[in-house]
Amino acid sequence: MNKIVIAIDGYSGTGKSSTAKQVASRLGYTYIDSGAMYRAVTYFFLSNEIDFTKITEVVKSLEDCHIGFNGTSIFLNGKNIDHEIRTMEVNQNVSPVSAISEVRTKLVEQQRKMGEEKGVVMDGRDIGTVVFPNAELKVFMTAEIDVRAERRRKELIKKGMDEDLEIIKENLKARDHIDSNREDSPLKMAEDAKEIDTSQLTLNQQIDKIVEMAEEIIYAS
Ligand code: DC
Repeated sequence: MNKIVIAIDGYSGTGKSSTAKQVASRLGYTYIDSGAMYRAVTYFFLSNEIDFTKITEVVKSLEDCHIGFNGTSIFLNGKNIDHEIRTMEVNQNVSPVSAISEVRTKLVEQQRKMGEEKGVVMDGRDIGTVVFPNAELKVFMTAEIDVRAERRRKELIKKGMDEDLEIIKENLKARDHIDSNREDSPLKMAEDAKEIDTSQLTLNQQIDKIVEMAEEIIYAS
């Protein structure tokens, strides 16, 4: 059976990662969380006190920044950093870091390699527009801001981090703004993407919808 590439893009907190992970598992595909890779670079800059507003520092330090993702966990220079990349400090710095072209070039190249064999589900902001413009299935996920903030809060609580709802909402809005307005690969829906508003959908409904779309394409090819 032919394998396809599934690109899932959308705003922060729409449930892209949880959905993409389950879609991959149902299809027997590899899941790649591209946001985790941008978070890993952000954590690398913060923990090494790299001034990422200075491009020469960025370029030099990126040589020592090796990111790995095994379908479940994210690694920085061989160390598991699943927990470290989900803090509010990383949340607050990841959008400016991911607006740096040198960071994007490095990660996009790695992401394309990971998708060479197809059979992957990758979620992010520019997957359908830049990383895999020829993906067989492109999905763009949206949801109302209040729903997204509440979901993100529950996610943080599960990880033992209680955060004020208003702060989370402001952070989501700020990230949407930076992600959508940056010069390099801004967040936007690919012309051939299918939009799914997840405000009223459960996680299982989101997953079912995408698996259905994928199977239609896989069986037709
Ligand atoms: O999906 P996430 O919230 O973990 O992503 C974190 C940040 O990474 C997001 O605010 C923008 C950036 N990002 C990006 O620029 N391009 C991607 N393909 C994925 C994430």
